[in-house]
Amino acid sequence: MSAKTPLMINLNLPKWKAGSVLEIHTLLTNLCATPCTSQGAETRPASTAKRVQLQFERPFGSSASLSPNTSSHRKQNQSPGQPCWGSRQPAEASGNTQTTSGPSDTPHTPCVQMRDQALRYRSIHTRLMEMVLTLQQTVEDHIVRLTTRPQQRDLALEEQWHGQAIREQEALLGRLLFQIVSFLPAGAPGDQSVQPPCTSTDSRGDVGGGQPVQANRQTGQMFYEESDFENTVISYDLSNRGIDISALYHLSFRDYDTYQGNKYHKDKNTLGYINLGTSENKLCTDLLAERLSQSDMTYVDEDLLQYTDWRGQPFLRKEVARFLTFYCKTPKPLDPENVVILNGCSAVFSALAMVLCDPGEAFLVPTPSYGGFAFSTHLYAKVKLVPVHLESQVTEANGYPFQLTVDKLEHALLRAKIEGKKVRGLVLINPQNPLGDVYSQDSMMEYLEFAKKYNLHVIVDEMYMLSVFDEAITFHSVLSMKSLPDPNKTHVIWGASKDFCISGFRFGALYTHNREVASAMSCFGYLHSISGIAQYKLRQLLQDREWIDNIYLPSYHFRLQEAHRYVTRKLKASKVPFLNRGSGLYVWINLKQYLDPCTFEEELLLHRRFLDHKLILSPGKTFMCKEPGWFRLVFAARPHLLRNAMRRFQQVLVEQAQERTVKQLEDAMKEEVSTSQPEAPASPALRKS
Ligand SMILES: Cc1ncc(COP(=O)(O)O)c(C=O)c1O
Repeated sequence: MSAKTPLMINLNLPKWKAGSVLEIHTLLTNLCATPCTSQGAETRPASTAKRVQLQFERPFGSSASLSPNTSSHRKQNQSPGQPCWGSRQPAEASGNTQTTSGPSDTPHTPCVQMRDQALRYRSIHTRLMEMVLTLQQTVEDHIVRLTTRPQQRDLALEEQWHGQAIREQEALLGRLLFQIVSFLPAGAPGDQSVQPPCTSTDSRGDVGGGQPVQANRQTGQMFYEESDFENTVISYDLSNRGIDISALYHLSFRDYDTYQGNKYHKDKNTLGYINLGTSENKLCTDLLAERLSQSDMTYVDEDLLQYTDWRGQPFLRKEVARFLTFYCKTPKPLDPENVVILNGCSAVFSALAMVLCDPGEAFLVPTPSYGGFAFSTHLYAKVKLVPVHLESQVTEANGYPFQLTVDKLEHALLRAKIEGKKVRGLVLINPQNPLGDVYSQDSMMEYLEFAKKYNLHVIVDEMYMLSVFDEAITFHSVLSMKSLPDPNKTHVIWGASKDFCISGFRFGALYTHNREVASAMSCFGYLHSISGIAQYKLRQLLQDREWIDNIYLPSYHFRLQEAHRYVTRKLKASKVPFLNRGSGLYVWINLKQYLDPCTFEEELLLHRRFLDHKLILSPGKTFMCKEPGWFRLVFAARPHLLRNAMRRFQQVLVEQAQERTVKQLEDAMKEEVSTSQPEAPASPALRKS
């Protein structure tokens, strides 16, 4: 840092904000001025960040002493209202000679490749310090903004413009702070540690991205807690809950938003992002577009233009009941009165969390698991997820990688009870996302018996039931069971986003034997129903068994097999281990060999490197996976896209492997130098003794 002349500024600033900003500034200044050299020091910013969070709660102090050079660092010709990214590179400010980091170094924005090379060798601490310095610069700019009143007399317009500029800067500050909190290393000791949240990738949902974070972190817990988001974003306008939601959104959807703004297109944008992170089915969109354009789809009844039954149009509920009766092979026809339709399975899941749990209560969920659940349960219901951690290692207790057993369920339930959590249910995905496992009938029965024994609800998400492409595997719906251990507490979810490639339709259905639950769920149709026109088209689609069985499903399964074969061949060629399961739109791949050391921080860096190559994959942390190094790769894409994606994928692995080798060589050389050096002579004091 350059020399600082303390500068007294008598501020006449609105409300609490200036005080908070100044306090943050002082904190950041102290933080930047403190050298951190040891390993332990790497965790220091974690607690500081927590303190930074707390500063937001402090009331405003009307005058403050502001240390630095604030305005002198400001870029002279910077236009007002803009953060002065270019004015003083953070590294220059700290006297740090390393490559500087600007907005393009933020966790979700790809960096230029050369800078990335340098970045890879930096410690987490260095990177954090860069972020903190960038933040400090922004805070300084913000103080200047707050203390600069409009010069001209005019005026309302000028005032308005000034206010707007301040808001924009504050939004930026909030984002920067949040990025820093997001980036803090996992496992920092003590209560103040903050785990690095996962980047979102499975966009909407698998967005997962939003790797939940836990406030009072226990080993292996990685879920969002409300307190993680409190006060990390500054806002004039949002409530605390609004701030929480906004932070959750940014955490969960940042990669997805980046992707939406710059999508790959084979003619129009060949340099755009290819998204193999979101579990979205692009394999048969052509068939669906064609079918949905046929004349029987275009009918508009006047009734369809009116409000409807909030559980869903009776004609669609009837068709969904028929459809599930047929494809789930139920022993008796399902009852349309037990069907509730909302705009997507995420909405169904979120509504179920609302009606089955009180805030703070929890669901057990075997992990790795679809990351969108954490988002959906937190958003409205403030329901927690308790992970049942599965392991990749095959052992006596673990017959195959990531096997779910009743023992593990019981263990997790017991641990949750000891921690004072009230567990209300168990969430199962079958076929599983991201593993691709299909549960046998016997296993499923064991899980249901377990739930009954402990009086738990079971939500079975059968979202991928028609996406089993290995002919040797048979999927058994829970609805096909002749007798369910606890029918009143067994709830099944299915939607058309995955099996029919129409995630944009936003259609999700619940089937429950429990009328009380169905009735409570109906209320959500008031907020989350689908348009009558879309419901009509969905009915037409689901009732066309001839097309589904003879045209759609054979083509869909063939394309799934082809895409899976192509991707797994490439993985084998690159010697990347993966789970070879025959269902779902994705493969669960093991990139541990590319992480050195094998940590979640390195996983995040590798994820960023994929982003730098405009490729989105979902890192394992997004799925609450306990072991770093796993990624989910979605292969349900058309051949040209997949070919391009796999080219980018392989390029990243080659670079990553090269860097690893260089790093290992450097480490070996360093060790050699340190062991070959003669021991330093003992100090006189030591010699004497
Ligand atoms: C297991 C699972 N359930 C639910 C969803 C969300 O589905 P929808 O598009 O219907 O909200 C997803 C999306 O990835 C999923 O993988």
